[in-house]
Amino acid sequence: EPLRFSGIWRFHELIPFASPDLVVTVGEGQTLLQQTDSVGSYVGMKPGRLHLQYEGMNPSGSFKDNGMSAAFTHARAIGARRAACASTGNTSASLAMYCAATKLMKAIIFIGSGKISYGKLSQALDYGALTVQIAGDFDDAMARVQEVSRDLGICLVNSVNPFRLEGQKSVMFRVLEALRWEVPDWIVVPGGNLGNSSAFGKAFAELKSLGLVDRVPRLAVINAAGADTLYELFERRGLRWNGGHANMEIAHHYYNELDQLGRKANTIASAIEINRPVNLRKCLRALEFMDGVVRQVSDQEMLDAKAKIAAGGFGCEPASAASVAGARLLRDQGVISPDDRVVCILTGHQLKDPTATVAYHTTDQDKFNEVLGSRGVKRASFANR
Ligand code: F0G
Repeated sequence: EPLRFSGIWRFHELIPFASPDLVVTVGEGQTLLQQTDSVGSYVGMKPGRLHLQYEGMNPSGSFKDNGMSAAFTHARAIGARRAACASTGNTSASLAMYCAATKLMKAIIFIGSGKISYGKLSQALDYGALTVQIAGDFDDAMARVQEVSRDLGICLVNSVNPFRLEGQKSVMFRVLEALRWEVPDWIVVPGGNLGNSSAFGKAFAELKSLGLVDRVPRLAVINAAGADTLYELFERRGLRWNGGHANMEIAHHYYNELDQLGRKANTIASAIEINRPVNLRKCLRALEFMDGVVRQVSDQEMLDAKAKIAAGGFGCEPASAASVAGARLLRDQGVISPDDRVVCILTGHQLKDPTATVAYHTTDQDKFNEVLGSRGVKRASFANR
């Protein structure tokens, strides 16, 4: 049975929108949960308590394949011929790969000018997707692609597409499976467009109502400090999901402020350089259900955490390291305690964004300045190795 080879569809009973014979799979979701004490001690955990979920091991190198497989399954069911997304790079790489591998649809990709790492851009081009650079950043590209796909009847596969989130629930299923269905205390995940956090909340709500788990982990969503909308709204302005209602006026008011100040998202973690997360409401609901918290971490904290993760054996891209940097902050603040069982989600592969990594480790001052100097980041401390 081919579904056995997909880390998503071997859980098809828990993703029941598609009948198994319609499933589109390229063998995604063969990922790994690894316990690591070197990163654990960096975070401040007791031995055996920190786990990393390596979603960069997916075929296109990021967690996006979990959702794209499900979006393609749905698109095939409705006979869609064209799919579009706006992307900071990983969604587009995944879309382009599924198009090339399955020939089910043609890919149209919108990227904000200059805001994409070459590792990711090279994937979209190599897989043959129509790749359009638009003036503006990711938030502008997202707004444009929603208009265009609505007007032209193109299937939109950003995480506003609810079928994407159905597939992304499987990250939690695999984490639980690796922990022999012992529920961890914390799930820590980077927050960009807030698709993962929303999907994780839905996964646990369903598992709980099915009686497959008896309790739910707490959720920590970690923003980059330069793209901290969720942190601002949830922790500073008190925006909450409250019994089926969230006062989105608070969010709209904040977005107007951003516009007036001309403030754009800005972080070395280009994957999560997003100011207007499309899944904000769903994420608020997940935070409510999972008794969640939101934190922000600096570029420096992400890059330092990223180097520690790689020194532990497998690497990740800068945005992914927000989870470990965030866990460290929460441990520091006493929110996470040293013997909690913590799972940090590493969303993308180490090779996605080599420019940031090389700049961080280089001894060449000019190279360093070119990429990181203006961000006030200090380079990797070789003395620590
Ligand atoms: N980590 C990585 C590596 C990502 O590529 C993204 C999002 C996120 C985290 C944030 O995930 O939306 O679930 O909060 N990348 C999107 C893209 C925006 O276009 O590839 P989220």
